[in-house]
Amino acid sequence: MSNNIKLGIIGGGKDSLIGILHRVASGMHSKYEVVGGVFNTEIQKSLQYAEETGIPSERVYKDLDSLIAGELSLPDEEKMQAICVLTPNYLHFSMAKKLVDNKFHVICEKPLTTTYEEAQILEESVRRSRIVFAVTYTYTGYPMVRQMREMILRGDIGKVQKVDVQYYQGWINPIIHDPEKRAKTWRLDPEISGKSCCIGDIGSHAYNMIEYTTNLEVKEILADLNYLYGDNEMDVDGTVLLRFSEYVKGVIRSSQIATGEENNFRVSIYGEKAGLKWEQENPNYLYLLQDGEPLKTLKPGHAYNGELSLSGTKLPPGHPEGIFDSMGNIYHGVAKAINKEGYDPAEFPTIKDGLRGMNFIEKVLESNKQGNVWVKL
Ligand SMILES: NC(=O)c1ccc[n+]([C@@H]2O[C@H](COP(=O)([O-])OP(=O)(O)OC[C@H]3O[C@@H](n4cnc5c(N)ncnc54)[C@H](O)[C@@H]3O)[C@@H](O)[C@H]2O)c1
Repeated sequence: MSNNIKLGIIGGGKDSLIGILHRVASGMHSKYEVVGGVFNTEIQKSLQYAEETGIPSERVYKDLDSLIAGELSLPDEEKMQAICVLTPNYLHFSMAKKLVDNKFHVICEKPLTTTYEEAQILEESVRRSRIVFAVTYTYTGYPMVRQMREMILRGDIGKVQKVDVQYYQGWINPIIHDPEKRAKTWRLDPEISGKSCCIGDIGSHAYNMIEYTTNLEVKEILADLNYLYGDNEMDVDGTVLLRFSEYVKGVIRSSQIATGEENNFRVSIYGEKAGLKWEQENPNYLYLLQDGEPLKTLKPGHAYNGELSLSGTKLPPGHPEGIFDSMGNIYHGVAKAINKEGYDPAEFPTIKDGLRGMNFIEKVLESNKQGNVWVKL
């Protein structure tokens, strides 16, 4: 039997968007072995998926409760050690809580839960159980995002004075105008998605990215959300003004009705000495802007990058690092934490980031509901 971390997967079946990313990324650094899971609500589909992907069928369970019971009955050296939760949002809290209470390490998709209250309860359980709990804000694993953080923290751009993060998608546009399609989309159903669609799904990535790259905490927000139709309960677009302090301000512009946009996530951080810009659709380029200087483009794998960035780059310069690599880096960091090896806390987002994300989502909704007023985080 290998010494790799035994990983179980909940959700993420063949029909899912995110399952393949976790499955491939977890194998990237030879630190995990997928030993089973519950990939779907129907066991037959889960078994079929296991067969197609080479996962042993013996530990494919019908639901999470059977998985926990089955795994706890195994000798320690065979048991799943970590489990990733890749189901729709409303299941994250109950599933993650059961896993944490039974001492499994957890890698959970974002948003962490559907309410801030649930997130607080979960955080308390994690603190008590001392397991490793990661929340996959996927984009923090890109080498040039890590580089952005390293440069900002060591003062390359000077004191941060302006933050502008845009996350534009257009996929809800063909859905929102058609009531039938709208009713079939779980991200637009508050029972499944939670209280917010656009801010919960992608605005939360933007918020996390700001705190990750700058280490600054947003202190106050003012939000203006768009629901587009009176009978639609879920935001599909939102602009959020941010105040870090009296003289450090910013904005998150997020939309899922930005017609024709794919996954246009851009992070721009401006300091008194320079600016840095990064775009998810071209993740190998980090742009450095300076007064009176030509634009500089930094790329992965070069010795001018910092240790955190270089440790997340597997091939020499010129070999693009994409989203699978980014998620692979997060899984690698989590493996180090589980194995009690030294690691940089910036290698993976934790329950604290998930909790802050849920607070942000609720405060955005509060600000919007109260008539677009400033709300303290
Ligand atoms: N980190 C990112 O960038 C990113 C990107 C996309 C999705 N996500 C998150 O990942 C999660 C899943 O999103 P998705 O788009 O893959 O959803 P999806 O609807 O495409 O897939 C969900 C999967 O979960 C399975 N499932 C549902 N209920 C289950 C249950 N009770 N037990 C076991 N399996 C069950 C479904 O069969 C399906 O395979 C969401 O929380 C979403 O926010 C994150």
